[in-house]
Amino acid sequence: MKLTIDAIEVEARDGESILDCATRHGIHIPHLCTHPNLPAFGACRMCLVEIEGMRGYPASCSTPAQQGMVVHANSEKLADLRRRILELILLEHPSACMLCAKRDLCEQFRPGAMKSGRTSGCHTCNNKDVCEVRGLSQELRLESLPVAPFYRNLPLERSDPFIDRDLNLCILCGRCVRICKEQHGWATIDFVGRGSQTKIGEAFGRSLVEAGCRFCGSCIDVCPTGTLSDRYAKWHGDPAEETITTCAYCNEACALAIGVSRHKRAISAKAVNPAVPVCVLGRFAIPEFLNGPERIKEPQARVQQVLRPKRWIEVLAEAGERLKPYIGDGFALVFDDSIMREDRAALQAFAGGVMKSERCYEVKTPDRGAPQFAIPEGAKAVYALGPFLDPAALDGVELLIVQDCYPSPLSAKADFVLPAAVFAETEGSRLDSGGEPRPLHRACQAPGRALADWRIVRDLARAMGAEGFEFESIEALRRLYGIESGQMKIQRGSAPAPALDPALRRTHFRGHSIEDKARGLRML
Ligand code: SF4
Ligand code: SF4
Ligand code: SF4
Ligand code: FES
Repeated sequence: MKLTIDAIEVEARDGESILDCATRHGIHIPHLCTHPNLPAFGACRMCLVEIEGMRGYPASCSTPAQQGMVVHANSEKLADLRRRILELILLEHPSACMLCAKRDLCEQFRPGAMKSGRTSGCHTCNNKDVCEVRGLSQELRLESLPVAPFYRNLPLERSDPFIDRDLNLCILCGRCVRICKEQHGWATIDFVGRGSQTKIGEAFGRSLVEAGCRFCGSCIDVCPTGTLSDRYAKWHGDPAEETITTCAYCNEACALAIGVSRHKRAISAKAVNPAVPVCVLGRFAIPEFLNGPERIKEPQARVQQVLRPKRWIEVLAEAGERLKPYIGDGFALVFDDSIMREDRAALQAFAGGVMKSERCYEVKTPDRGAPQFAIPEGAKAVYALGPFLDPAALDGVELLIVQDCYPSPLSAKADFVLPAAVFAETEGSRLDSGGEPRPLHRACQAPGRALADWRIVRDLARAMGAEGFEFESIEALRRLYGIESGQMKIQRGSAPAPALDPALRRTHFRGHSIEDKARGLRML
């Protein structure tokens, strides 16, 4: 069907709203409460339009496009009506910075959001870079309010893990309620109270934890204001870059967008498709795990009973020399199933080709708890890629190399400690629960001098003078071992099992407790 919007003839799809049709054809209509992943709500009226032959100003987000319609979406009269609507919204939302005549200068000289207990204006709001209300005030050139605004003075809510709420910023657009209730079918939050006392919350004054929140973070992702925020990410501002990669915490292999700061540190992780949530580990536990201050950052070698940082070249040369007497079945290598396929191929080539040992073990990570492994009899040199061995049962082990991301009681006993990068810091691929390969992309920098597992084992093999490790890139490694990296799992139709049932959520990654790093998990 054909219609005209702002004198442009456009073709609408069956059941499409005027707003969606206009957006698809590049015609901008200001809007606020609607969201591409949610059914229309018609609450804010910001998207109002004029339709020839129709009375009043219908909301374009909830009015279906019809054959022959003539729609006016951007006249000066409509802009004026939208300004009046925005004035009403701002009567209960801090607006000092939006209306300040010096706001451009202020932005220029004080570009970062200032940390503050309460948000008194955009300058102290963590959401200022992406706030849709602020964007509208600029687009509509709003300069003043007709009456003094009212501050609701609601308490800041910080007692739940991962999510901060400042309901004084809420404009009651209902996006958070709709994504939780209508999109995910969970209804953790709703409008509570009546009239001027209406706010977003949980029934009976419960906390998010008590109300059974899955901490998928979708409500934060759709909120147009700074009301809901990711406690870890909020003060980093808008990510400088986002990279789509695959979560490696479990075999669901959800696609995630990892946001990084301009210093290349991971600051956030979100579902790529907001209509389908990920579990709390993927949404909230990745930046804290990657940025843990205890991460192993330097290669270390034991010197007179003490582990001391050294250069990679020295540590690998020393470790290689110490390994040579154990070529044969005196050598054992152990890693867990969180390892990427490229790393596994290089490690197996090292164990079989360089160390001539068949003792190369992959331990399975249980859904709950850390993988455990008993050292096989006769193994005198052990190369472990995580804390899978009991440090009290190292009798007979003469050489211990630990390659890991975090220190552990096992690494404290090692002769050499090699700092490993983990997913989002390195590239690779892994199989999902259906056996399909999924690619992992590098989003952020590994800490200190940590390197990908395949690089470390390649350089160790080279330090020992071995051949067959000439690959310089992950692509060359894949060609050598015949590995396909696969497609990103973005088109997932439903939430992964761990998002629905917390009992199916992994507790450990590479042998390390995830909740020790992302402590909010302990409250769930
Ligand atoms: S985090 Fe997810 S489950 Fe919890 S309130 Fe928000 S949308 Fe609902
Ligand atoms: S919390 Fe955010 S998404 Fe929810 S109603 Fe308020 S402004 Fe809208
Ligand atoms: S279900 Fe959770 S832990 Fe598993 S891959 Fe998806 S986001 Fe990661
Ligand atoms: S965006 Fe259409 S009514 Fe809010």
